[in-house]
Amino acid sequence: MISDRCARRVSPPRVVAIEDLRRLARAHLPRVVFDYIDGGAEGEVTLAGNRHVFDHVTFRPRHAVAVPAVDPARTVLGTRLALPILLAPVGSSRLFHPRGEEVAAREAGRAGTAYILSTLSGCRLEDVKAGSAGPVWYQLYLAGGRDVARSTIARAAAAGCGALVVTIDTPVAGLRERDVRNGSLPLLSGHLGRMLPFLPQVLARPRWLLAFLRDGGLMRFPNIELPGVGPMPYADVSVALEQATVTWDDFGWIRRAWPGPLVVKGVLTAHDARRAMEEGAQAIVVSNHGARQLDGVAPTLRALPEVAAAVGGRVEILLDGGVRRGSDVVKALCLGARAVLIGRAYAYGLGAAGGAGVARAIDILRTDLVRTMKLLGCPSLDALDCSWVDIPADWADRAT
Ligand SMILES: Cc1cc2nc3c(=O)[nH]c(=O)nc-3n(C[C@H](O)[C@H](O)[C@H](O)COP(=O)(O)O)c2cc1C
Repeated sequence: MISDRCARRVSPPRVVAIEDLRRLARAHLPRVVFDYIDGGAEGEVTLAGNRHVFDHVTFRPRHAVAVPAVDPARTVLGTRLALPILLAPVGSSRLFHPRGEEVAAREAGRAGTAYILSTLSGCRLEDVKAGSAGPVWYQLYLAGGRDVARSTIARAAAAGCGALVVTIDTPVAGLRERDVRNGSLPLLSGHLGRMLPFLPQVLARPRWLLAFLRDGGLMRFPNIELPGVGPMPYADVSVALEQATVTWDDFGWIRRAWPGPLVVKGVLTAHDARRAMEEGAQAIVVSNHGARQLDGVAPTLRALPEVAAAVGGRVEILLDGGVRRGSDVVKALCLGARAVLIGRAYAYGLGAAGGAGVARAIDILRTDLVRTMKLLGCPSLDALDCSWVDIPADWADRAT
C-alpha cells in the first residue's frame, strides 16, 4: 500500500512536473543508480534531442470550442487502456526501489494501463503479472541464449502476458559514460578492493542502502534461468547480450514460440518498419532506447513521420523517448502514434518514492493530457491528426 507520507512527498507544491520527480530521485538515490536511469550513450546528443524535438512541433489550437470532457482511453493491440501511456521496459528497476518491477506494474494496473517487463528484471515475471490488475507485456532479449529465451517465452505465455516485445536495438550495450565514471562495473564485481573507491556515493544514501539490503542486495535475473546455474548473475549481462544479438532471422522461431501479439521495439526508419511488418509484428515501437544505445540517431519524434508513412496504418505504432509532459503525448498522437511508452518519467517516480512516485508520474501525465486536449479544442484522441500541429518544413521530406 502507498503510505500517506510517500503520497505527500510527491504531492504539489513539491511535485508539479516530472522534472520534480527527477530532482527527488537524484536526492534519494546513490549517484551510480540515478545516473544509470538519467544518463544516455556517449555524448548524450540524442538524449538531449529526444526532449528538444518536442519543442519543434507547435500546436494549432481551435479556440472558442467547449470541451467539457475528454476521455483519454485508448485501445492498443485490442486491449482498452485508460490512457494512451504504457510503462516501458526498464531493466534493473529493483535497484531503484525494493521489488521495483512489481511495484511499477501494480501502479500501472491501478491506473488502468499496461506495464512492459524487461528481461533484465529483478523480479520473476509470474510475480509481476500476478501483482498487477492491468495488462503485463514481456520484453525479450536473448541473453542466455535461444533455448533459455524459448523457455522464458513459454513462461510469459503461461503467466498470461498480453504481448511479446522484441527489442532490436541492443546488439551490444551502448557506452553510457556516466556509468563508467561512477564505477558501476567495479561496484558489481563484488571485489572489495575494486569497489572501495566508488563506495562513498552508496554510503551517502543510507535510507536507500538499508532498503536495498533488506530487499536482498544485488539481485540476479530470475527471467533468465541458466541450466545448471539458475538465475543469471548480474555481472554477466553485457557479455550475454553481445553473445545473443536479436536478428531478423530469429523472428521465425519467436513467432512459432509465442502465441500472442508481437511487438518490435527499436524501429527508427521506414526500412526497419517494413521489415518488422514482414516478420509478423502487430505493433512497432519507434524508439532509440531512450538514447542509451547508438548516440547520434534521430530523436524519436523526428523519426515518427517516416515510419508512419511506411506503415500506412497496417500495424499500430507506439513511440517512446523524451516523453515528460502530456503535451508530448498529444504531439506524438498527432504525428501517428497510437500511444506512447514512458521510461524515465516513471523510473524517477519509482526512485523518488516507490509506488507513490509511479502513481504520481502517471497522474501528472494524465492530467496534462486532458488539459492539453481542452486547450487545443479537441474532444477526442481519435480526432488528433497532423492538422493540429505545425512541423518544421524539412520534416515532410521523408514522410511521403
Ligand atoms: C534505466 C533504463 C533501463 C532500460 N532498460 C531497458 C530494457 O531492459 N529493455 C528495453 O527494451 N528498453 C530498456 N530501456 C529503454 C526504455 O524501454 C525506453 O525505450 C526509454 O526509456 C524511453 O525513453 P524515456 O526514458 O526518455 O521515456 C531502458 C531505459 C532506461 C532509462
